[in-house]
Amino acid sequence: MTLVDLHRLPRHVAIIMDGNGRWAQDQGRIRSIGHREGSRAVRRTVRAARRLGVDALTLFAFSEQNWHRPGPEVAALMELLREYLISEREELMENGIRLRAVGRVDKLPSSVRDVLDALVADTAHLDGMTLTLALSYGGREELVDAARALASEVAAGRLTPDAIDEAALEAHVPSVDVGRVDLLIRTGGEQRISNFLLWGAAYAELHFTPRLWPEFEAEDLYQAIRAFQSRQRRFGRVTTLHAEPEPISSAGE
Ligand code: FPP
Repeated sequence: MTLVDLHRLPRHVAIIMDGNGRWAQDQGRIRSIGHREGSRAVRRTVRAARRLGVDALTLFAFSEQNWHRPGPEVAALMELLREYLISEREELMENGIRLRAVGRVDKLPSSVRDVLDALVADTAHLDGMTLTLALSYGGREELVDAARALASEVAAGRLTPDAIDEAALEAHVPSVDVGRVDLLIRTGGEQRISNFLLWGAAYAELHFTPRLWPEFEAEDLYQAIRAFQSRQRRFGRVTTLHAEPEPISSAGE
């Protein structure tokens, strides 16, 4: 019994999976063991979200800033990612899950990039749920890339500065392709956004839980969704809305 109202699910759930290191430390083990256990929590969470009928799930798997962690930890994370992409291939495909990646994925080692590209291509036609892995991702970096793309369009004469509005910028923010974030969950007890989905999560409902990511269970996801369902979303207006209104575009005005 989940007591989640399946008719009022958040369409797009995003998760900052924090606490792997502390979990490992609590067990007297090295950090990479925490990440390994964290990848089991990823599997559980993807299954639970799919079973509920969530449309889009975006996971912060590796930030642009994570490259500054010690080499062995980065290497362990890359290896885990590669293993995950290989081991979950069948399950993702069987469950109609489309995989995408956002971030500066060209920085990933080719051993990861190759399996990632293949799985993204092979699941591109599936429409049961979209699982987006944020890899080498930073919200500011994504906005810088979007600004650069707009500047190129202006330089090429395809766009005038006056025509740049929310919709024009958003069209260059890949993490919003699956829709703006409705519910942003962060595990591990910290209450920060940490450069995740800065544009798409502008009006997201935030849910912080002390649960360390390796211990995150389906029930924790249900609890976050129940909390979401108990909130009123107004998006700066006075009446309650269930979804964020589309940006007002000046195009054609
Ligand atoms: C934060 O915990 C977590 C990460 C930096 C990486 C997240 C990676 C995984 C959950 C596993 C691999 C991912 C996939 C998709 C298979 P932390 O190390 O900052 O924890 P701490 O705050 O306790 O130190």
